[in-house]
Amino acid sequence: MKNNKFYHIYTYGCQMNIHESEKLAGFLEERGYIETKEPNLADVIVFNTCCIRKSAEEKIFGNIGAIKPIKKKNPNLVVAVCGCMAQQSQMAETIQNKFPFVDIIFGTHNVNKFGQYLDDFNCKHEKLKNIEEEIQIIEGTPVYRTSGYNAWVNIMYGCNNFCTYCIVPYVRGREISRKPQDIINEIENLLKTKKYKIITLLGQNVNSYGKDLEDNINFAKLMQKIVELPYEFKLKFMTSHPKDLTDEVIETIANNDKISKAIHLPVQSGSNRILKLMNRKYTVEHYKEIIKKIKDKIPNATITSDFIVGFPTETEEDFLATCELIKDVEYNSIFAFMYSKREGTPAAIMEGQISDEIKNQRVNTLLKLEKEISNQKNYELIGKIENCIVEKKLENDDEYLVKTDGGKTIIVKDDNLNLLEFVDVKITKISKNQLYGEIVNNGGTNEETITNDATISQ
Ligand code: 5AD
Ligand code: SF4
Repeated sequence: MKNNKFYHIYTYGCQMNIHESEKLAGFLEERGYIETKEPNLADVIVFNTCCIRKSAEEKIFGNIGAIKPIKKKNPNLVVAVCGCMAQQSQMAETIQNKFPFVDIIFGTHNVNKFGQYLDDFNCKHEKLKNIEEEIQIIEGTPVYRTSGYNAWVNIMYGCNNFCTYCIVPYVRGREISRKPQDIINEIENLLKTKKYKIITLLGQNVNSYGKDLEDNINFAKLMQKIVELPYEFKLKFMTSHPKDLTDEVIETIANNDKISKAIHLPVQSGSNRILKLMNRKYTVEHYKEIIKKIKDKIPNATITSDFIVGFPTETEEDFLATCELIKDVEYNSIFAFMYSKREGTPAAIMEGQISDEIKNQRVNTLLKLEKEISNQKNYELIGKIENCIVEKKLENDDEYLVKTDGGKTIIVKDDNLNLLEFVDVKITKISKNQLYGEIVNNGGTNEETITNDATISQ
């Protein structure tokens, strides 16, 4: 007979969900469960779901269905479904009817109560469904971190924006910010352990942090307070809505070495007509101005974005405007999504829905475009100096893998680097899409021009 109890968590969707799974795991670890990669061996299986696109939902249904034979073999197995999909009451009912073997269902607002639900179920063996209307922030719950030297930290929950395609405000509620001191305490405790070198702040729209608080605080001031903590680390953040990205935030990023220069600024479309229908509250011209400001103040910024193609009524002309914007901004990379109709959102009932065939064509065109641009961007890196973290020693004795601020990996030759230290690396060549570089000792700015010894090979 086995003595240990095991758990397995399926996580779908964004970084927010990855971190929420760390919180779910925290409750399980606290109760003595051990993680297993093998669902067959688990005593508790949790599905932490996502509903941002239909494709995610379909995959999740398939995965939950596949648990049925495992539950049949092991009736003591506890199956829980939570997260964005479960937060919608109708969907929660569908899950209950379609998969009667699911024991616990709860929404995004109840993640912090998972421990209590599990204890109740293990005690009474009564099925449980709990979906609360509003989130209550509970501080100090356990977190079992699984993202290496990066630690995710929520600074706020929910979203007030109601972009017409998006289900998030309906399943995650209105914006609510954590108190600055609670955030700082959490980060200080993480940094004290010396295990974490990157702190990534999480929110649907981090730029509107603090608007609901009485303290004299905003996102820029919060970042400033965090980087004053006396430890060596990089501060990252996601995601930013362009309409709320202030000059103060740009200045704060520009003026602090500890703040990452990787800025994810989803634009969604390059057509003003579509942006208006999407309720994004900015124009292409306004967006380009923000990008210009970023490039002027932060010359080594890594700029990335999200795009949706095939939004209702999107014409070829609208789509070409999106392509133009991508060429104009020269993003380091982009994420392109086919518009997915989400019931309950205004866009779902708009006339002029676009066929899957056209969406497919458009998404492929964007991906091709992004490949060309990001290849070009890689070549532009040659000769530049990037501040990187040493991630791993490679099998070749004197080679290390280091990672740039923008997430690119570089192979460097050196005989004595410490793992997880920050080093300045000059990028010397690119070969088969892999960057190579050498350690340099000077300050770590990114404004070097291409030097003679830079080589390109493929
Ligand atoms: N269909 C397709 N993509 C969507 N996103 C959000 N809602 C939808 C939808 N209904 C994309 C947006 C957002 C990213 C996280 O997901 O581009 O920035
Ligand atoms: Fe969705 Fe728009 Fe909020 Fe982002 S800002 S979560 S796209 S509603």
